[in-house]
Amino acid sequence: LSPTRASSATWASCWPDSPPGRGSLSRMVVAIDGPAGAGKSTVARALARALGFIYLDSGAMYRAVGLMTLRQGGAASERAEELELQIGERVLANGEDVTEAIRAPDVSEAASKVATNPGVRAALVKKQRELLSDGDWVVEGRDIGTVVAPEAAVKVFLTASPEERARRRADELGTDVDTVLRDQALRDAQDTAREHSPLAVAPGAVELDTDGLTVEQVVERIARLVEASR
Ligand code: CDP
Repeated sequence: LSPTRASSATWASCWPDSPPGRGSLSRMVVAIDGPAGAGKSTVARALARALGFIYLDSGAMYRAVGLMTLRQGGAASERAEELELQIGERVLANGEDVTEAIRAPDVSEAASKVATNPGVRAALVKKQRELLSDGDWVVEGRDIGTVVAPEAAVKVFLTASPEERARRRADELGTDVDTVLRDQALRDAQDTAREHSPLAVAPGAVELDTDGLTVEQVVERIARLVEASR
């Protein structure tokens, strides 16, 4: 071993026994990306609880910007920049509890629309990176493994067939599957085709098809990946 190290070496790489894939010694990020209805929220929340990590739903941030833009109009990027968010069990946007309001179908569509705006993305990615700079996190979204935290120790891309995803979402919302399937196809197309940070499998991500798997089975598989990366 050479006693001198390249000046660009990070702290993590200076310690011979530091686990690979960790961005720093003090934090660990598990990134879970995938399309609507793939089970990200349920799985990410359960995984965070099992690991004792903090859970972040980045989609709630885009939804909050979508809601504020629907209500107030104007530039979505301005709505994003001025947004004061508190995300925990409840989602507070500018002091107002919007936990239920952001789940409405018109807000899903508005979120997907504002998410195509590079100014909105820059503002929210900045907030997300600030949060993730400390602590252990399970983060779900569309661009966590590709853009927000490409150094994440574990990256997972959750999928399921469109029919299965629509069935799950229809159960959640109490609406009919055909309507959900139509809205979902539109949002999938928008999220995948957009120019900025489209939904894509990150390099190094493990693709997990959740069709026919229970939540527990999916959580267990990801927990094993986390164990292996420590
Ligand atoms: O829960 P669901 O998968 O239906 O959507 P979500 O995660 O709440 O995200 C709502 C919308 O925000 C998505 O359709 C994306 O357009 C956008 N989004 C994004 O662009 N990047 C993220 N990291 C998270 C969400």
